[in-house]
Amino acid sequence: MKLSDCHNFEDFRKLAKKKLPSPIFHYIDGGSDDEITLNRNTSSFNNYDLIPSVLNDVSNVDMSTTVLGEKIDFPLFPAATAMHRLYHHKGERASARATEKMGTIFGTSTMGTVSIEEIAKVNKGPKLFQLYIHKDRGLTDNLIERCKKAGFSSMCLTVDTVVAGNRERDRRTGFTTPPKLTLGSLLSFILHPGWTINNLTHEKFKLANIIHITQKGTSIDKSVIDYINEQFDPAMNWKDAEYCVKKWNGPFALKGVMSVEDAKKAVDIGCTAIMISNHGGRQLDGSRAPFDQLAEIVDAVGDKIEVILDGGIRRGTHVLKALCLGAKACSFGKGYLFALAAGGQKGVEKILENMKTEINRDMKLMGCKNISELNSSKIVFRKS
Ligand code: LAC
Repeated sequence: MKLSDCHNFEDFRKLAKKKLPSPIFHYIDGGSDDEITLNRNTSSFNNYDLIPSVLNDVSNVDMSTTVLGEKIDFPLFPAATAMHRLYHHKGERASARATEKMGTIFGTSTMGTVSIEEIAKVNKGPKLFQLYIHKDRGLTDNLIERCKKAGFSSMCLTVDTVVAGNRERDRRTGFTTPPKLTLGSLLSFILHPGWTINNLTHEKFKLANIIHITQKGTSIDKSVIDYINEQFDPAMNWKDAEYCVKKWNGPFALKGVMSVEDAKKAVDIGCTAIMISNHGGRQLDGSRAPFDQLAEIVDAVGDKIEVILDGGIRRGTHVLKALCLGAKACSFGKGYLFALAAGGQKGVEKILENMKTEINRDMKLMGCKNISELNSSKIVFRKS
């Protein structure tokens, strides 16, 4: 199987599975507890049907949208995710370059393995930085200042990870970063020599954004679960979020909002956007799918704040359905991480290109020339 054989999410997933040692593959692929929410994030799109309209001259389709203060070529962007160096030896450099080329926002994480400053050098397009509030509060100010200096366009604060979800796959595989060699994992590394050789012959794994501040930032010699539970601050509250909004003083999103009540609070503290998200089904299992919460949230705050739908996106039609229900744009994580593992920069370019092509084709089939024509008249809930 080659990159050119990857036509959809499942193809990229399969190729990534072939290339990655199993603890790393399962870290991306897995959810929490029984993975009910992980699976429902995608299946929830099937509860709604699109209603196309015909004979509309769709020879020219404009997929562009404006979100978080930036005009992007199509309404999807890679969500900020942690530790790209695990998936490919070029780390975030590869995903950042690919995303700039494809004309959308690149998100990078507090737990990135290429620094804020270097990301700014390799990606001149719109960039979002994702904050995690650590117990070491000095870190928050430091990260915000650095992003300002480096010219990042927007900031998001992830609010659904006060403790780590129960990711049993990680416990079973003994996932740690850098990977620890155990008898079980050794076999997996031997069976994936391409990854293992690249890993040994390129720069060492490091949490590049926090390396200067916390000793733990140099590596996570335990599991990510332990890192989150030791370092992230469960005392985080609305005042802290408001502090970050004010300190950043630019386009700001809260990521991980799931209720109407919280969406209203996000408006009150001055956020530009909310990302409806359950962290890709990796946190609270049994929580509702973002898509199932979308209509109600848009109804309550859609005229006051931008609503971004994150989670479960596999197809162009998923993006269209979210836009019909009032989302400004969508973001996805697993898809582009599998693509990064499958083919580095070229892999990420390919999945974004595939999704862009799907969105374009699907808009034509829907009879829509631009994003604003995707509205609630074009979608219906299927009762049975
Ligand atoms: C995770 C965190 C680190 O989901 O975002 O693993």
